[in-house]
Amino acid sequence: MKLIEVKDYQEMSKRAAEFIIAKVRAADAINLGLATGGTPVGTYEYMIEDHKQNYTSYRDVTTFNLDEYVGLSGSNPNSYRYYMDEKLFNHIDIVKLNTHIPNGDAADMEKECLRYENQIEQHGGIDLQVLGIGSNGHIGFNEPGTSFESSTHIVDLAPSTREANARYFDNLDEVPDKAVTMGIATILKSREILLLASGEKKRDALAKLFNGEVDERFPASILKNHPCVTIIADKAAIPEGVIARK
Ligand code: F6R
Repeated sequence: MKLIEVKDYQEMSKRAAEFIIAKVRAADAINLGLATGGTPVGTYEYMIEDHKQNYTSYRDVTTFNLDEYVGLSGSNPNSYRYYMDEKLFNHIDIVKLNTHIPNGDAADMEKECLRYENQIEQHGGIDLQVLGIGSNGHIGFNEPGTSFESSTHIVDLAPSTREANARYFDNLDEVPDKAVTMGIATILKSREILLLASGEKKRDALAKLFNGEVDERFPASILKNHPCVTIIADKAAIPEGVIARK
């Protein structure tokens, strides 16, 4: 894992956007795996700005998001489909049909998991997967204890995850208790991974990631077994003693 240290959230967002934009520009076509949450918002803002100023085109980009809440349709402002449309897709020249997010409102969620997993495979897999990290080490919505062999599946959200995400809802009761997420095996199949972390709330998670063993009780630890992981983290998120490139 290569760790790049940056000053703050703004710089993390800029470096992450530049990283993604360089890949988009270099490839004829690319499959990006995308994340939601607070962390990548600034990255998406830089990507939009760059699209407007430098005309980086997303016409040949296909995207697959990590996860979605179960029970929320794409028109619900708290759904991740809504988030992605608002925070990125509506502002760049991506073809909407090429943007994929699990359908949290499918009649048969088990079938939906299979369909999503197959869809990623039929498109040739993910070239670059963007990840955030939960304070309990979750990636996607793969909570501690999730099998490293898991493919796209339904999860019960940990109380800490529901509490962390309650800030987007009117109250905690409205946060769904289930989500559909790419599995850990799905994420690990990506050819390259970019993990973003900002703020002291993420410092313990990064400490476990760098200093701990690969263990299903800390899902992100599996990233140590992936051959091509870059972490862009700001000073506040980097634990003492971990040496990063600037
Ligand atoms: C989002 C996702 C989650 C978040 C993680 C961190 O699609 O899969 O794993 O990346 O919960 O969330 P933030 O960025 O809000 O701290």
